[in-house]
Amino acid sequence: MDAVRIRDDIYWVGAIDWSMRNFHGYETGRGSSYNAYLILDEHVTLIDTVKEPFAGELIERISSLIDPEKIDYIVSNHVEPDHSGSLLKILALCPNATVITSLPNGLKGLTARYGEQAYKGIKAGDTLSIGHRTLSFVPTPMLHWPDSMVTYCPEEKVLFSNDAFGQHLASGQRFDDENDIDLILFEAKKYYANILMLYGRQAQAALKALAGLDIELILTGHGISWRSHIKDILSLYQKWST
Ligand SMILES: [Fe+2]
Ligand SMILES: [Fe+2]
Repeated sequence: MDAVRIRDDIYWVGAIDWSMRNFHGYETGRGSSYNAYLILDEHVTLIDTVKEPFAGELIERISSLIDPEKIDYIVSNHVEPDHSGSLLKILALCPNATVITSLPNGLKGLTARYGEQAYKGIKAGDTLSIGHRTLSFVPTPMLHWPDSMVTYCPEEKVLFSNDAFGQHLASGQRFDDENDIDLILFEAKKYYANILMLYGRQAQAALKALAGLDIELILTGHGISWRSHIKDILSLYQKWST
């Protein structure tokens, strides 16, 4: 299984779950995906992992690019197992990697699930240099758990948005302009309604925190990512959250 090139040195290495039909109790008739991304910089960085049964796909896709042993950082934007479930299997291959997680809830959640590991807790505004690129971290509590955060790379103008802006939609394509936009927007709305609607106030706070960022790509944790309809999905989140 090959990785999908997003742009130079940034690859999708996630997994597509074609048969998932129920997520957090809502019907997901079109499956989903667990999106993870690999950045090949001086310090190789993996952004999120995948649900545990798909760990083999993640490892295969990473291995099509580099030896997983070379991973220096794993950014865990969210501790729920659809994003962190393969953490121990990956760490077994790169035992020297550091896992970046939010303080205090990410650290608490990961430690409860996976025991003591080489975690580095970060707070709002903290940054991490990975070589030519920087990663900065924006907490997005309750989108959709207290530990949730998103990761922004200013040099690439890329936002790794985890649960925010996603959809439960299995697709062989990765971007909004490669798919039926009406279907993607329908699934994005259904996802918001089922997973995020209770947290309108927190979604407003997250939108405010993201407002100053120059974003060319939103690389989601589920489904399709955004490059041609970024303004549309941001203004829909604005509308839905109010
Ligand atoms: Fe979640
Ligand atoms: Fe998720």
